[in-house]
Amino acid sequence: MNARSAIGTGEAITFPDQGDPGFGVYVHWPFCAAKCPYCDFNSHVRHQAIDQPRFAEAFRREVAHMRGLSGPRTVTSIFLGGGTPSLMDPATVGAIMDAVAGAWHVPDGIEVTMEANPSSVEAERFRGYRAAGVNRLSLGVQALNDRDLKFLGRLHDVADALKAIRLAREIFPRMSFDLIYARPGQTVEAWTSELEEAISYAVDHLSLYQLTIEEGTPFYGLHKAGKLVVPDGDQSAALYEATQAVTELNGMPAYEVSNHARPGAESRHNLTYWRYGDYAGIGPGAHGRLTREGHKFATATEKLPERWLEMVEAQNNGLIESAELDHDEQADELLLMGLRLREGLDLVRWQQLSGRDLDPMRERFLLDEGFLERLGNSRLRCTPAGMLVLDAVVADLAC
Ligand SMILES: C[S@@+](CC[C@H](N)C(=O)[O-])C[C@H]1O[C@@H](n2cnc3c(N)ncnc32)[C@H](O)[C@@H]1O
Ligand code: SF4
Repeated sequence: MNARSAIGTGEAITFPDQGDPGFGVYVHWPFCAAKCPYCDFNSHVRHQAIDQPRFAEAFRREVAHMRGLSGPRTVTSIFLGGGTPSLMDPATVGAIMDAVAGAWHVPDGIEVTMEANPSSVEAERFRGYRAAGVNRLSLGVQALNDRDLKFLGRLHDVADALKAIRLAREIFPRMSFDLIYARPGQTVEAWTSELEEAISYAVDHLSLYQLTIEEGTPFYGLHKAGKLVVPDGDQSAALYEATQAVTELNGMPAYEVSNHARPGAESRHNLTYWRYGDYAGIGPGAHGRLTREGHKFATATEKLPERWLEMVEAQNNGLIESAELDHDEQADELLLMGLRLREGLDLVRWQQLSGRDLDPMRERFLLDEGFLERLGNSRLRCTPAGMLVLDAVVADLAC
């Protein structure tokens, strides 16, 4: 099957699910130059300089600790996320890469992604990250008009974003960028033309997120007070449908709810999450999933950077949680992740974990209503209509 004919079928993923979801390493850099008013990620603004060598040493120690928990593994991807990892010195990134390579087997050429903000872009730093081993950049562009970038509280303008995209394309073999849509007052026409423009700058991957109003953020307060009005359900659905249509037409269909790629350019790291593989979570507020002798553990680390640092210096890790997941919990997580993917949920694996079949009545109902579809005997996925109400579909099917 050639790549074009596979568009829309979900069958063209380069890394087809062959039962091994891989082992990823996630490293969290928890600092940003400013806090965006919509963001509830673990990101902090500090007005004094960050002691990066001290953080690098703490990352090294926590990597070694996680290696102790995971046992020997072959790493299939590394992801430096945040926060704003592009505020790290290239030497800090190099130290992290060395620590990971010293702990696990890291084959040449695996996907190594770093998130970057267009406002913290300098060619020299980009070249430094590339030299440290980063081979995929994920840029937080968010919007392609200055008014909306200002509304989103971003420090960059469109000119900065385009410069960053140009530079990333020049320096990194792979790159993606993020946009946030379903902004207040956004029409389908305006979004369609912005998305078409974005696709013209894209290489082979885009992350397109609907603006979510997260509790505890400044946008949440404004929204509650009626001062920030986001698109209603119908308008959000229309924007989502336009997103699917424009990206499919341009050869970048969704392979997950918000992630789009040309066939073969899917993020290996993200696929590991959604295929429910293991990943080590390193750094403040990082989550992980590690399997040891058949037991799967959920790990989480202290979120506050300075407290995490002190914990690691005292005991080699900042873990605040390491809980074994029973089989029902694992089956729930697999379901939640698998239904996000266009390739769908691996039903055999779900049955092995849960020790039973999905509730046949509930599944039948969701199939008949057009929210789910079967892919052969062994996979189940959301239809486009199901994707629009994914949370409800998952809640209906879960244990
Ligand atoms: C943790 S951020 C890291 C990237 C980088 N710090 C940046 O913002 O450019 C990852 C992405 O999540 C998305 N995001 C964060 N909060 C969001 C929200 N409330 N609604 C929609 N998308 C959001 C943004 O597109 C952002 O680029
Ligand atoms: S730059 Fe990214 S991580 Fe930092 S506050 Fe903004 S959206 Fe959140």
